[in-house]
Amino acid sequence: MTRDLAIAIDGPAAAGKSTVARKVAQKLSYIYIDTGAMYRALTLKAIQTGKDLENGEGLAQLLFQTNIELVQETDGQHVWLDSIDVSKDIRTNKVTSHVSYVAEHPQVRKEMVDRQQKLVEQRRVVMDGRDIGTHVIPDAEVKIFMIASVKERAERRHKENLQQGFRSDLGELREEIRKRDEIDSKRETAPLVKAKDAIELDTTSLSVDEVVECIISIVKNKQMEGK
Ligand code: CDP
Ligand code: CDP
Repeated sequence: MTRDLAIAIDGPAAAGKSTVARKVAQKLSYIYIDTGAMYRALTLKAIQTGKDLENGEGLAQLLFQTNIELVQETDGQHVWLDSIDVSKDIRTNKVTSHVSYVAEHPQVRKEMVDRQQKLVEQRRVVMDGRDIGTHVIPDAEVKIFMIASVKERAERRHKENLQQGFRSDLGELREEIRKRDEIDSKRETAPLVKAKDAIELDTTSLSVDEVVECIISIVKNKQMEGK
């Protein structure tokens, strides 16, 4: 019997968290939870319904009336917002450029963290975001803080966009990433910081598979400790 763990992966935008977290979860037969998708889904609904993104109380009220589900399907994780599949809609530039303003509000974060904590009660999860190791699963057995240079992260996103069939401006991407990192790191509630007991992994010159292997070996070591 191997020990069931919770694995927290945090880090700045486009560091490779979700790609790596998904693969680590697959290898371990764990559940993968993309918490950024939850903030993105609320942001989409707030934009669609014309809500004031500076009103934290109003956004929290909206969240109380909102059902967000992360569903594992054969082609990957889908995000359902009030029974509509919004997996693609939450990745648009408009949502990306507004999500950090929605995620800044303590009232919104409290409800999101409550929902996320319910999903990790059973362990056997890989969860990625900004505050997983510090607030959502402070007792996670494995905490990774994944970083890469801004240049590398912008290039990765650029390449990803090209693969999905649309061109993006590298300079604009770099600026969007830098701005979002700044808001996420400077907000008062649960900012993006490395948890004291997290392992920092600089992935700038590592492939996805190399990062996955590195995390799997950290997990195996942790499981051995429990024996
Ligand atoms: O994938 P990408 O790095 O573009 O971002 P994401 O993980 O989808 O997260 C989108 C935004 O949601 C972040 O820039 C944060 O503002 C917010 N977020 C957060 O505040 N806390 C989390 N645990 C996850 C995301
Ligand atoms: O979730 P996060 O925003 O941190 O990043 P992501 O969406 O998982 O990764 C952004 C892009 O970088 C994806 O296309 C990954 O395949 C790529 N990537 C990479 O090229 N090398 C890595 N070591 C990690 C991710």
